[in-house]
Amino acid sequence: MRCVSRAGEMLVCSCNFITDKDIENTIIELLDEDCWQLIVPAKVYHAMEKRGRCCGCFPNVVDIIIRTTEQYHAGRPSTDEKIFDFMTRLKQFHEENRRADLERRQNSHRAA
Ligand code: FES
Repeated sequence: MRCVSRAGEMLVCSCNFITDKDIENTIIELLDEDCWQLIVPAKVYHAMEKRGRCCGCFPNVVDIIIRTTEQYHAGRPSTDEKIFDFMTRLKQFHEENRRADLERRQNSHRAA
């Protein structure tokens, strides 16, 4: 669920009242520390001193991570090949996590 909050910002996490801007800014801070690190939602929330509660926002956070990381590298001097390789690995990592999460949910639903 997404709602509009402060001046054009989108509320991404209703449990913690976190907007897309809050998340983007935190991702940029993390990338400034190490632009090739693998960023996951838990790392972003930890940096904001928040915790995922229902974690229903995590798929949207992953989309913001990928989009922000792509934009970050597009504005920095790096070879296209290096960026392409990194973005491929980042998307693949998040896709595998999404699939594993979906399988976990289906298995726990079947067990219940
Ligand atoms: S909506 Fe983000 S933890 Fe629940």
